[in-house]
Amino acid sequence: MIYSKIAGTGSYTPERILTNQDLEKIVETNDAWIQSRTGIRQRHVRAENQATSDLALMASQRALEAAGVTPAEVDLIIVATTTPDMVFPSTACILQAKLGVTGGAAFDVQAVCTGFVYALSIADKFIRSGSAKCALVVGAETFTNLLDWSDRNTCVLFGDGAGAVVLRPSDAPGIYSTHIHSDGRYADMLSVPGTVCGGKASGSPTVRMDGGAVFKFAVKVLDQVCREALEANHLQVSDVDWLIPHQANVRIIESTAHKVGMDISRVVVTVGEHGNTSAASIPLALDLAVRDGRIKAGQRVLIAGVGGGFTWGSALIGM
Ligand code: UT7
Repeated sequence: MIYSKIAGTGSYTPERILTNQDLEKIVETNDAWIQSRTGIRQRHVRAENQATSDLALMASQRALEAAGVTPAEVDLIIVATTTPDMVFPSTACILQAKLGVTGGAAFDVQAVCTGFVYALSIADKFIRSGSAKCALVVGAETFTNLLDWSDRNTCVLFGDGAGAVVLRPSDAPGIYSTHIHSDGRYADMLSVPGTVCGGKASGSPTVRMDGGAVFKFAVKVLDQVCREALEANHLQVSDVDWLIPHQANVRIIESTAHKVGMDISRVVVTVGEHGNTSAASIPLALDLAVRDGRIKAGQRVLIAGVGGGFTWGSALIGM
């Protein structure tokens, strides 16, 4: 039996930091409100000349280096993003060229904040089936591109960043299981209802969100999908070393941990420093916890995402 295993992780956040105090100057909000309602203290914002593929490139190079893999060995690139560089070609193909990779396949996955879980689930199947030998799986976003800076309900929540993992075949897990779900009936709860048509943007090119409804939905499905992963592997929550939920709001993270029965000291929380970086949030948090020594080889990590679509999913990972 072939499993896929994470051989290396990497991440990148742009240099520019936007604090809550900076936001107070842009929109009618305050640090106390943002921190108490979301746990967010700051977020990173791309430089003017940085596109999603540039953030993805930095994270990918770090993941490849950690894995001891050269770009030439990569035969599959999947980029999860809601903020592609352009309509086409895919950000994955642009990243492929920037890495100097000329073989294999490269494509994007769009599942908004669940994007990385979707991408990992797809890459896992390529590796398990023998169709790929070295997969680069990236979550990368310049999500601040989609914000209306006059809408305090949404602009305080999001940030930019990228995270990446390299997956290779292994005789032992590795990824134990992945579970992905969607229900398009909830599309209107969180969307950017715009597109490009006739040479100009049509519809609205910024985030629309029913925050309260998203909050309730997120807590419900994150709990469900964590339990689904544990049950599928006949494991208890005590068998898992770390939980990495999507980093949207510290209250969603704490409620999820409480419902799942995971002590908060075993939950990786980065939302305070990064805000919600959509598809990048989980791989960013994973890389930080690997690099600061919290997540160690041999441990089990449960990741769980939820986002627009609506989409949600989990993966149980042996490191
Ligand atoms: O990846 C998924 C992405 N989306 C999310 O994760 C969003 C999930 N939802 C949430 O995180 C929360 O619902 C929010 C943080 C968006 C809002 O928190 P809340 O506790 O649900 O607050 P609320 O919407 O009930 O708003 C309370 C008050 C309102 O004022 P009134 O009507 O009570 O006078 C808002 O106008 O807070 C006001 N408010 C703000 N005040 C200062 C809303 N945004 C802000 C703000 N600064 N930025």
